[in-house]
Amino acid sequence: MDYQKILNTIYEELSHIDLQGEVASYIPELAKVDPRKFGMHLYVGKGEHFCFGDSTEKFSIQSISKVFTLTIAMQLLGENVWERVDVEPSGDPFNSLTQLEYENGIPRNPFINAGALVICDILVSNYEDPKKELLSFVRKITQDENINYDHKIAASEKSTGFRNIALVNYMKALGNIKNDVEPIVDFYFHQCSLAMSCEELAKAFMIYANNGKMLETGEKILSRTKTKRINALMQTCGFYDEAGEFSFEVGLPGKSGVGGGIVAIHPDQYSVAVWNPILNQKGNSELGMAALEKLTTMTGLSIF
Ligand code: DON
Repeated sequence: MDYQKILNTIYEELSHIDLQGEVASYIPELAKVDPRKFGMHLYVGKGEHFCFGDSTEKFSIQSISKVFTLTIAMQLLGENVWERVDVEPSGDPFNSLTQLEYENGIPRNPFINAGALVICDILVSNYEDPKKELLSFVRKITQDENINYDHKIAASEKSTGFRNIALVNYMKALGNIKNDVEPIVDFYFHQCSLAMSCEELAKAFMIYANNGKMLETGEKILSRTKTKRINALMQTCGFYDEAGEFSFEVGLPGKSGVGGGIVAIHPDQYSVAVWNPILNQKGNSELGMAALEKLTTMTGLSIF
């Protein structure tokens, strides 16, 4: 298969279309990103990779980081994670507070903000310096020591992140948060600020496409079963109240972020990351979804 030719076609067909949505502005620093940025990187294994556009430029990965923190929590607690977070799609926006009230503070899944904040609480309980642990995990799976937090973005979200602070307080009132609120939200705002390029994300997500093993070294990061569970959650919950649409259009497990990035994987086949900062109403990259739809249609490689 000529993957580079397929990527070139995607770029030609999509790079000039007019988009309806807007760049995320509720995190003030994100509003400064150039809305025309567009990049894609495809990693097909054995070191082969293909790309177009701004695929090596770093951006704020935001909610994509929730896959990394969930991975670490599962390494730590295994199946016990599910005592505090459920595994059902929410059908609600990513930052919703409403379900928590009638579901007794147990978030529907680890990818909505409430669920990711419980995962943060788990990491805060288990590590003296969870920010350092997360960074070394991401640096390990990318084999890249230059990956870092963007402290300006973390501070920017901290100054406006009242819904997330409310979520932690509310879950604490309902008994599902063990630590103080401050270190949890501080860790959460930093994990969301991780700056990575499409190339780095596609490489990192190869572990989920490769049964939990790093491609180059063969080192096992996650068991086959845990990898299966994370991929299932990406499929059913990775796009919040647009998870059905993403499955329908693209047909891959994936995860989005309000920085405009989307990562998706095809087990045993490939990992792909795409970035354009303009979001649709559900907070997912409009162009990113269109690019991935074209990729799975043109390659014939979706999981369905
Ligand atoms: O908590 C927030 O609102 C952001 N830091 C992350 C949200 C996000 O990326 C949702 N994904 N599409």
